[in-house]
Amino acid sequence: MVSSNSSIMPTSPPSAIEFRQALGQFATGVTVVTAERAPGQVHGMTASSFASVSLDPPLILVCVDHRAHMLAILQKQKRFGISILKEHQQKISKFFAQPEQDPAEEKELGIGFRWTPSGIPLLENTLVQLGCHVAAAHVSGDHTVFIGEVESAELHSGAPLLYCRGGYQRLAPLL
Ligand SMILES: Cc1cc2nc3c(=O)[nH]c(=O)nc-3n(C[C@H](O)[C@H](O)[C@H](O)COP(=O)(O)O)c2cc1C
Repeated sequence: MVSSNSSIMPTSPPSAIEFRQALGQFATGVTVVTAERAPGQVHGMTASSFASVSLDPPLILVCVDHRAHMLAILQKQKRFGISILKEHQQKISKFFAQPEQDPAEEKELGIGFRWTPSGIPLLENTLVQLGCHVAAAHVSGDHTVFIGEVESAELHSGAPLLYCRGGYQRLAPLL
C-alpha cells in the first residue's frame, strides 16, 4: 500500500506503480545529459537521476535507462556534459525526453550548444554546465549508473527547474 495510516510495514516489495509513486515524492532538479553522437553532432537526454558523489575528486552520477539511445553513446564516447535547467526551461526538458528530436523544434526552442576545449558539448543558457569524463559505469538493474569526473564547472544566474510527483515545479521559500 502506498497511502496508509497503518504503522505496519508491508512485507512484500512494492509494485512498479507503487515504487514510482513513492520515489516521485522526492523532488529533484532537471538536467540534460549531452554527448557527441557523431562528429560535431550532439545527442541530449533529460535526466533527473543526477547526484553529487564526491568532492575530492569531484564526482557526480547519472543513471541511464538501458532502453535509452544515450547508453551506447556514453559507453563509446566516455565524455559527457550535464546542464542543469533553469525554471523556465521545461519545454527544453520535454524536448530532450523525446525518443526522436526534431531539428525544427530544436531551432524553435532556441537550443544551442557550446563545446569545452576537450570536446564536451553543453547546453547554452542553462543554470550550471559541467564537463565530465566517465570515471566508472555500474550496471544496476535496468539502468547503468555512470560516475563522471567533473573537468569543468560553470554557474550562471537564475533559479532551478524542479521535478516532483510527475510534474514541473519551481522553488518557493518557506515563510
Ligand atoms: C523529468 C525527467 C527526468 C528523467 N530522468 C531520466 C533519468 O534520470 N534517466 C533516464 O534514463 N531517463 C530519464 N528520463 C527519460 C528520458 O529523458 C527519455 O526516456 C529519453 O527519451 C531518453 O532519451 P534517448 O533514448 O534519446 O537517449 C527522464 C524524463 C523526464 C521528463
